[in-house]
Amino acid sequence: MNTLQIEIISTDNIPAELDKKIDQLDHLAFADEQHDDPEFNSIDWSSHIEYMALGYMDGELVTLLGLLRRELLVGGKPVWVVGIGGVGTHPNWQKRGFASTLLQSAEKFMREKMKASFGLLICADERRSFYGRNGWKHLADEIFFTQDGQRRSLKTSVMILPLAEQGWFAGEIDLCGLPW
Ligand SMILES: CC(C)(COP(=O)(O)OP(=O)(O)OC[C@H]1O[C@@H](n2cnc3c(N)ncnc32)[C@H](O)[C@@H]1OP(=O)(O)O)[C@@H](O)C(=O)NCCC(=O)NCCS
Repeated sequence: MNTLQIEIISTDNIPAELDKKIDQLDHLAFADEQHDDPEFNSIDWSSHIEYMALGYMDGELVTLLGLLRRELLVGGKPVWVVGIGGVGTHPNWQKRGFASTLLQSAEKFMREKMKASFGLLICADERRSFYGRNGWKHLADEIFFTQDGQRRSLKTSVMILPLAEQGWFAGEIDLCGLPW
């Protein structure tokens, strides 16, 4: 049986053709994402993705996620995290464990190559169990971020992945920039 082939690639080294495939899969995976909340719809998502984790079946790109480093403020204290965003699987290839396998590979990369103490992502409440099964812990239901010089808040599930012995800090989470 064929298995998922995974590569984690710096966004500086993505050839144009692959970049196009990434865009296509991203649009396809998120095509049904609809939000009634105008606040949510007015968010500019960070484009400073540092690495892409990509999963292929028989050479076809079927699942992907992005990774970026960010220094946040948690309760006013600076904390480095690796953010995960844009987790998506081609609709024809969902519910086969591909995104979970990709998250496991990303976890190893975040710990060993990016030397992060925590992963952090935001997601819809109904995705909490999916990430929970992959080791992520629900931490809060609101984040703060900055867009166009304005501090804003977003009600959303905030999840972290502990990657080292370090404990998390109490207090509000300020992404100190755009969300991902
Ligand atoms: C969320 C998403 C990335 C999951 O991708 P996926 O490759 O289907 O993920 P997995 O197969 O690892 O897990 C998905 C579910 O399938 C289940 N599953 C895994 N293997 C399975 C199998 N062989 N048979 C049946 N179900 C299976 C998992 O248990 C999981 O269930 P859960 O959602 O209740 O936890 C995908 O649904 C998607 O792209 N959604 C649209 C974009 C989106 O919302 N992204 C998340 C942003 S936070």
